[in-house]
Amino acid sequence: MSVSHLYLHSPFCSSRCGYCAFVVEVDALEKRDAYLEALLTELEREEHRLGEIETVYLGGGTPTLMRAPRLERLLAAIRPRLAEGAEVTIEANPETVDRALLESLRASGVTRVSFGIQSFRPHLLAALDRGATPEQGRAAVECARSVGFDSVSVDLLMAAPGQTLDDLEADLQDTLALAPDHVSWYELEMKPGTSLERMGAPTADEDVAADMYRRTVSALEAAGYRWYETANFAMPGHECRHSVAYWSAADYLGLGVGAVSTVGSERWRNASGVDRYVAALGRGDDPLRHRETLDDDTRRRERWMLGLRLDGPIALSWAGPPDHPDAVDRLVGAGLLEASNGRLALTREGRFLQNSVLHELMEYA
Ligand SMILES: C[S@@+](CC[C@H](N)C(=O)[O-])C[C@H]1O[C@@H](n2cnc3c(N)ncnc32)[C@H](O)[C@@H]1O
Ligand code: SF4
Repeated sequence: MSVSHLYLHSPFCSSRCGYCAFVVEVDALEKRDAYLEALLTELEREEHRLGEIETVYLGGGTPTLMRAPRLERLLAAIRPRLAEGAEVTIEANPETVDRALLESLRASGVTRVSFGIQSFRPHLLAALDRGATPEQGRAAVECARSVGFDSVSVDLLMAAPGQTLDDLEADLQDTLALAPDHVSWYELEMKPGTSLERMGAPTADEDVAADMYRRTVSALEAAGYRWYETANFAMPGHECRHSVAYWSAADYLGLGVGAVSTVGSERWRNASGVDRYVAALGRGDDPLRHRETLDDDTRRRERWMLGLRLDGPIALSWAGPPDHPDAVDRLVGAGLLEASNGRLALTREGRFLQNSVLHELMEYA
């Protein structure tokens, strides 16, 4: 079975943002060379699983902290395997890029840059412990566009502690003024163990969060973006193909600390900890991995959970039956689902109430 979607994790960050629970190492930049060698070794060890690569995603952490020479080597290693027209995305923090780095990435085959903006409001950036100013965010997007990337994307957050509807409105206007090709607008999740959670930062009121979501969707749609996934919006043709593959339950290979792979019924997650990862690959071993075999029922449920995030219908012949088929008529009657020709799709209202719909359709959602 050959895999055509590749994720590469770079764990390094300058500091840990107050809401972040990703696999990240701070104050560890001196480990970057050893990490790159280990990542290239893991790529060699796993290469037999790869076919022509359709999409690559360099995520983090802050991949741009790897800097140009290391990223050039990593990209050169995957280039021979890239399909014609492959999508190659890098996540970037605005304060870590300059024109030279963006030019190097473009020349090395990166097609898409995704900037973590989070907000254009200085008080929210401070509350979230972000390293970039609003001006740095804008400048980074403009620079990426002038360097000639196919797609420039921005990530923003809603329902952040202290964020009001007026703050959201201002962020919407500032985002639209930049005219990115793609927008990811996530509701902030208060993750256990993060500094915001430990300091007891107030979570957004549920009704306010729901209003923010509706306002975000309507403002972005009115500006011409397709609401193609729960939290993702794209100008025509700018949907993130890597993420769509993931939501379509395709196989993917993830390399690097903390990275997850799913190939057929096998799933494994590399352990976190750069030192352990580097040591294992240096010894000629696999990184420490948690492995599981996914049974048909688990895969069927995942297809429902992931597939309902997308705006297209789910074919029952692909997903299998929901746990509670008897709920379908009720949800259709309530105007939350549409059913036709063996396909089910959320209505617009159903998309806003996606979690409740999933709770009715599935055993554990
Ligand atoms: C994997 S992160 C890393 C990207 C990059 N280092 C940055 O911070 O911009 C990708 C995106 O996930 C989102 N994210 C991270 N933590 C989150 C949380 N607790 N709740 C919701 N979204 C989150 C942020 O919008 C972030 O841009
Ligand atoms: S920069 Fe991104 S990955 Fe790093 S700590 Fe902040 S949110 Fe997490």
